[in-house]
Amino acid sequence: MASNPKNLVARGYDTVADAYLGRFSSSAVRDAWLAGFVALLPGKARVLDLGCGAGVPVARQLAGLGHDVTGVDGSARQIRLARAHVPAAAFLQADMTEVELPAASFDGAAAFYSITHVPAAEQGPLLARIGSWLKPGGIFVGSFGAGKAHDWTGDWLGTEMFFSHNDEATSVALVRRAGLKPLRTETVEQDNEDARFLWILARKLDHSAGRDNPGRRGPGGPPSVSPGCGPALRPAQPPTADGHRNA
Ligand SMILES: C[S@@+](CC[C@H](N)C(=O)[O-])C[C@H]1O[C@@H](n2cnc3c(N)ncnc32)[C@H](O)[C@@H]1O
Repeated sequence: MASNPKNLVARGYDTVADAYLGRFSSSAVRDAWLAGFVALLPGKARVLDLGCGAGVPVARQLAGLGHDVTGVDGSARQIRLARAHVPAAAFLQADMTEVELPAASFDGAAAFYSITHVPAAEQGPLLARIGSWLKPGGIFVGSFGAGKAHDWTGDWLGTEMFFSHNDEATSVALVRRAGLKPLRTETVEQDNEDARFLWILARKLDHSAGRDNPGRRGPGGPPSVSPGCGPALRPAQPPTADGHRNA
């Protein structure tokens, strides 16, 4: 394995960006959690899409709703595709664990299937960075690995790839430690592959207001999330054979 797994991941996506898009561009699970995230954003929100890939469907949908989207991805090929797919958004080719972004400047931050490529030990510091980029009351949604903490390096979609995660209780604890209050957590089977992810929708605490979320919800009350995205964190299930995304 390369000394820095994040370089390996960026190089890997340079090779498989098009294959990934063809294979994973559609997921009802991702759509449901994106809908839950969108329902909590204010109008014309400033939103980060971390590990934005080719910008489809997340950045494209967010920009289409009128939000001001900044996508970050370590892969040059993914960033080229994202700029072509979503001209209305801004894209940075950068490692999300190192990129410099202004503090307390985003209403929302999404990380769909990307934190699972960051070494488990770096996921806590990354979440702390995400917490610092969000405004008080800002919304986070992300997917994490499920089951026992695990690192995996091997052939994936025909290239060498790296996946990593903490156990689910640790991931939830790291989100809390980053100043984000979980609103919904659930381990969900993917609909487009043999894999499960822990999903977390959370809100940055707003200490100044003396409560967590002053007026961020629309008049309709709780966000509309598909029935699969209930509030409970299911007990961890045994990991899949190799604990990573199956092609
Ligand atoms: C599985 S793809 C997900 C793409 C998109 N978010 C989606 O929903 O399909 C993971 C993406 O995260 C990016 N990524 C992984 N680790 C990263 C890091 N440390 N910094 C920036 N981008 C990263 C990869 O380059 C890749 O484009």
